[in-house]
Amino acid sequence: MKLAKRTLNISPSPTLAIDGKAKKMQQEGIDVISFGVGEPDFDTPENVKEAGIKAIKDGFTKYTAVAGIEGLKKAIIDKLAKENGLEFQSNQIVVSAGAKHSLYNAMLVLCDEGDEVILPAPYWVSYIEQIKMAGGIPKVVETKEENNFRLTPEQLEAASTNKTSLLILNSPSNPTGAVYTANELKALAKIIKKHKLTVISDEIYEKLLYDGLTHVSIAAVDPEIKDQVVVVNGLSKAYSMTGWRIGYAAAPANVAKAMADLQSHSTSNPTSIAQKAAIEALEGTQEPVEQMRLEFVKRRDYMYERLNNMPGITSTKPGGAFYLFPNVSNYYGKKYKGQTIANSTDFAEILLTAGKIAVVPGVAFGSENNIRLSYAASMETIEEGLNRMEQVLLNFDS
Ligand SMILES: Cc1ncc(COP(=O)(O)O)c(C=O)c1O
Repeated sequence: MKLAKRTLNISPSPTLAIDGKAKKMQQEGIDVISFGVGEPDFDTPENVKEAGIKAIKDGFTKYTAVAGIEGLKKAIIDKLAKENGLEFQSNQIVVSAGAKHSLYNAMLVLCDEGDEVILPAPYWVSYIEQIKMAGGIPKVVETKEENNFRLTPEQLEAASTNKTSLLILNSPSNPTGAVYTANELKALAKIIKKHKLTVISDEIYEKLLYDGLTHVSIAAVDPEIKDQVVVVNGLSKAYSMTGWRIGYAAAPANVAKAMADLQSHSTSNPTSIAQKAAIEALEGTQEPVEQMRLEFVKRRDYMYERLNNMPGITSTKPGGAFYLFPNVSNYYGKKYKGQTIANSTDFAEILLTAGKIAVVPGVAFGSENNIRLSYAASMETIEEGLNRMEQVLLNFDS
């Protein structure tokens, strides 16, 4: 069948592709260790599961208001006020089927055909595809490893033209774990105001922060900037609820209305049952979040040490999320059993075939020098995976 033009440019999600490949090898009985996944390996907290079960038993299984039930909107509004210092009303909140869905709704209502969208690289894989699907032109700005992969005000200024309408910010970042401080965000806010940019701020990893860092939303750094920001967040990562599909956006009322209208003609409301569970996640005990965070710190520290001790590998220390993004480019041009490794895809391929470890090549995130390893796996798995990686590196031809 003939496909519509808009599909011709879309690439499948490479993170899901590598995961699929690793799972297929596992099904064939091959013992593959996956560092490819983008979801916490913890179970959804018991109280949250119970709330979902109760919703089913209570017959809360019908259509709801498109942008989410009032109880959940209230929980989100309270959370934004308490944790982020942001005041929103109910008509400014839109709950969707995951943060990815919120981001896509936002992109479709904010990006006009031909608009330039500034995207700092390394970037999460779906942003670039969503920009293209909305008819926008991704303006990729490469951040520097020595600046811990953070966009500088000078870079933002240089990239802004009269065609630029949007900026995508993601702190803490997937794939680098980079976290912006309040002062860095304030400096960016000046440029954002000057060029009247709209910011889509993806804050989904905000609860997974280490080394005493605190999360700051760009919407809160300056009293005037809030009206230029769409804050996107969700429950997938913080509450280990990836399968429940609940994300949300907090935006100026006209943007929220457009997003809800769009959603009303595509997916309608997010799942009724998941919405009830989400209220419990936000309003119930936060103890499981902290337990998960503490476990992630241990794993990050271990993986960071091990990687930096491997010959030719260097990694920045991520302040958040659950990924490391080491630079492996010292191996490019070298040979593994006669085969020249030219780029991050070749490097990831060798790790998978020779070491039975799945990682995501950096090129998927717009950064050819790196690979991404997720530490959403048990300590034993991480240890074994890194042992295997070390062996592969030792077997490069000298
Ligand atoms: C940076 C970032 N934003 C958004 C999402 C989407 O999360 P959700 O499961 O809520 O759609 C992910 C998931 O991998 C992510 O890494």
